[in-house]
Amino acid sequence: MTFCLDCHRNPEKNIRPLAEVFNLGWEPPGATQKEKEKNQLELGHKLVEEWNVNASVGCYTCHR
Ligand code: HEC
Ligand code: HEC
Repeated sequence: MTFCLDCHRNPEKNIRPLAEVFNLGWEPPGATQKEKEKNQLELGHKLVEEWNVNASVGCYTCHR
């Protein structure tokens, strides 16, 4: 369940461009790991806002 919640709590760390959703090898741009993380967060925050992502973490979303 941590797997589900880690992403629902921080979608900006995982979200990617729509064209890349089937690309298992996709990585955010950047030469170093640090740059990649920085670019992922920048892009992630932008996409989360643009697509109005609201991944609920209320228990009843998944447990009924
Ligand atoms: C890599 C990121 C990620 C992971 C991992 C993930 N989710 Fe999600 N989930 C999302 C996003 C993004 C949405 C869509 C939020 C929105 O509609 O704005 C979503 C939506 C949902 C919804 C619909 C919520 C609603 O209000 O309609 C359910 C149910 C759900 N996820 C269950 C799960 C379960 C169960 C797992 C683990 C097995 C899981 N998710 C793992 C990103 C993730
Ligand atoms: C995004 C979907 C999602 C949300 C939100 C969620 N759960 Fe879960 N939960 C799961 C899934 C899938 C499993 C079964 C897989 C597993 O055990 O890892 C699970 C398993 C559990 C379990 C069984 C033991 C365990 O840890 O595996 C408990 C207890 C639990 N959830 C409690 C909660 C509570 C309390 C909340 C609210 C704070 C919550 N869950 C919110 C998806 C979710």
